[in-house]
Amino acid sequence: MELLNSALIGTGSFAPEKTLTNFDLEKMVDTSDEWIRRRTGMVERHIVDENTASSDLAIQAALKAIEKANIDPEEIDLIVLPTVTPDMSFPSTACFVQKGIGASNAAAFDISAGCSGFPYGISIADQFIKSGTYKTVLVIAAETLSKITDWTDRSTCVLFGDAAGAAVFQATRDNKGVISSYLSADGNFSGGNLLSLPAGGSRNPASHETVDKRMHYIKMRGRELFKLGVKAMAESGLKALELGNLTLDDVTLCIPHQANKRIIDAVGERLGLPEEKMFINVDKYGNTSSATMAVALDEAIRNEKVGSGDIVLIVAFGSGLTWAAIAIRL
Ligand code: ACO
Repeated sequence: MELLNSALIGTGSFAPEKTLTNFDLEKMVDTSDEWIRRRTGMVERHIVDENTASSDLAIQAALKAIEKANIDPEEIDLIVLPTVTPDMSFPSTACFVQKGIGASNAAAFDISAGCSGFPYGISIADQFIKSGTYKTVLVIAAETLSKITDWTDRSTCVLFGDAAGAAVFQATRDNKGVISSYLSADGNFSGGNLLSLPAGGSRNPASHETVDKRMHYIKMRGRELFKLGVKAMAESGLKALELGNLTLDDVTLCIPHQANKRIIDAVGERLGLPEEKMFINVDKYGNTSSATMAVALDEAIRNEKVGSGDIVLIVAFGSGLTWAAIAIRL
């Protein structure tokens, strides 16, 4: 059977209007604009209001991607939605989005791969398209991290924001689309609050005690993750290139997970990619987990940093630990 390619035919992104600046955070916890800028490169992040959930952001991003792709929502065969902040444990956020965008013929599910969710999701889309099972797949990374942020913990609350990004992939016989994907995980790092939301699942169901102990908020040991993240993202980028018979010279733009500007700079240095080939928008959005790369991809295309024929390398790293990379020819 002839293998088809998964062409990227449309992207879209959405962030809530309200922003929280470093100066706003100075009034909430013992921090400073200077510390946040120097240690993270962040300036502001977008935050939802109390009535907005991840699916609301996902629907807006998806509608924009669908419009760009110039398809009817009913053409969508599958919705894959990476998130660490689903609307509810179940049903899946993907099902809320399916209704919201009118994709009445689509199968729909969420995936849990931490910040690596977007490349994990693209890889899933690509497998379904290459196998001939589905023709059109929508991948939407959507996060409302502000809902699981401990606003009294300065070591985490300055880092996170809310946003969604979407991408439509469609089967093609043309020489473009997803070239290669590399996914990896190491569960040895899953315990010990390295990066987790300890309560609300079957291990620690919600109780007065879990609330009192603030266990429904992100717990993170940032310094340890920093080193692991740099190594994991650089290595997965190289793996994806190798799998696609590509070299670093072929890469027009690298879109790394936006967790921290210093991490991005270190990944660029490790890979030997010049600064202008490393996409950065962490200053505007903070860390929006799986959504960072989806939003960045949309911005890079909209701002014409990349165009038809260019090769984009997405590299990610997140809780699990998981890490992943995707090479796409636009
Ligand atoms: N304002 C002022 N001081 C602070 C703040 C703050 N907001 N936060 C921490 N500090 C202090 C610490 O208490 C510490 O003080 P001490 O030296 O007196 O003990 C000092 O600043 C240095 O703290 P570090 O944690 O060592 O700072 P670091 O330079 O490592 O920066 C950061 C912290 C930004 C969290 C960084 O480690 C990082 O980005 N780590 C990676 C995060 C990541 O990639 N996570 C994975 C993805 S996220 C996801 O999956 C949702």
